[in-house]
Amino acid sequence: MGNCDIGLVGLGTMGAALALNIAEKGFNIAVWNRTGAKTEAFMEGAGALAARITPAQELADLVAALKPPRAIILMVPAGDPVDQQIAALRPLLGTDDLIIDAGNANFRDTNRRMADPGAFLGIGVSGGEAGARHGPSIMGGGDRAHWDRVAPILTAIAADYHGMPCAAWLGPEGAGHFVKAVHNGIEYADMQMIAEIYGLMRDGLGRSANQIGDVFTRWNSGALQSYLVEISGQVAAAHDAATNGPLLDVIVDAAGQKGTGRWTAIEAQHLGAPIPAIEAAITARNISARREERQAAEALFGPAPKPIDAGILQDSVMEKALIAGKVLCYSQGFGMLAAAARSFGWTMPLPEVARVWRAGCIIRSAMLDDMADALTEDAGRTLMMAPVFADHLRAGHAALRTLVATAATHGIAVPALASALAYFDAMRTARGTANMIQGQRDFFGLHGFARLDDGSTGQHGPWADAES
Ligand code: 6PG
Repeated sequence: MGNCDIGLVGLGTMGAALALNIAEKGFNIAVWNRTGAKTEAFMEGAGALAARITPAQELADLVAALKPPRAIILMVPAGDPVDQQIAALRPLLGTDDLIIDAGNANFRDTNRRMADPGAFLGIGVSGGEAGARHGPSIMGGGDRAHWDRVAPILTAIAADYHGMPCAAWLGPEGAGHFVKAVHNGIEYADMQMIAEIYGLMRDGLGRSANQIGDVFTRWNSGALQSYLVEISGQVAAAHDAATNGPLLDVIVDAAGQKGTGRWTAIEAQHLGAPIPAIEAAITARNISARREERQAAEALFGPAPKPIDAGILQDSVMEKALIAGKVLCYSQGFGMLAAAARSFGWTMPLPEVARVWRAGCIIRSAMLDDMADALTEDAGRTLMMAPVFADHLRAGHAALRTLVATAATHGIAVPALASALAYFDAMRTARGTANMIQGQRDFFGLHGFARLDDGSTGQHGPWADAES
């Protein structure tokens, strides 16, 4: 019988970093990789931590190295590779032995895998390579008893927020991977809104990358303090030796995506949960990838950007607009989590979600601490209506309006910020316009409508008279 506390399969960038983190926290870990050469290279680079790491040649060696009941983390690409790895491991394991998928999985796959015989957990891990190595944010999902078994290891390796580990059980079944997908949807929107403001400064205000970097760096010491604003400042400031100019100016303007954002948009539609800023960000990535088409359209219609008067779009306006956009985007993300919990019958502690996002993950920001507090006070509330965020919106929606209107009149696309504003305006409109939609539906399909005056439902208009 082995003496290792946990096993890990898949020594890619994230897997290797996670294994070193686990060893560094004092646990004995056994590792296995499909190609043995990678395991050897990993062990050579492990330094003193190698003493707590057992490299396995075969999967059976990995299993033999573990203390029962065993726990094995999978860090392999999402989809078929996970199923293949589970199929290879299960015959070597007892029913008590736990497989933990720590990659970015579609939560529907996680639900399916959890329904199969054998203990299984799906956890979302955020923070990139540095996070995995020194403290990621860990979003646990699945059977609570399974989580509790490995919680001592997962909380020990997680990011620390003022003495609190950013790792928690967030719900049954695939809830952990669901929360991670929503995290990534928010990540896309956060990044897109920053990129839109970068575009206004570059194309509208004619600023250099370095000047733009300075603005982001300054904002990072205020309400916008966050990892993504911080690294945006650094990205904009980076120098390119080959061109002796800003690196940002030579990076191709076509964004990649591995699909987690897309999962969020698809699930939001299934749930009927409005997340327009997140959807706009995903669509913006799709548009960015159509570079040749955009170049052809610019040749056809002429370039859009015109100079913007710096007096109209002051830095303070853009900062307030970005704060408002961020509040609206997070409110949409948490609203989607609440809708999922209701629809799937999941117990999902929303304050805990905000708490595990405060450090370690890509969307970590000062604002998440306020979100955790606001949800602790009332987990059922719509975040944008919590006093602290309502204050941000009261202070910022005029700025967001100025920014979106200015961008529109100068032909500069700001889809995520514009969607956030439209969401705000739609949400604050008590008497909307869907009475017209209901009238139209009843006209062509006799779908029926409810009446405002007497509260009756299933009513019909005099359409037959109108058509005859
Ligand atoms: C994280 C990130 C990570 C994500 C990559 C790439 O939380 O650490 O969300 O999980 O996979 O950032 O994502 P895209 O390729 O979709 O941009």
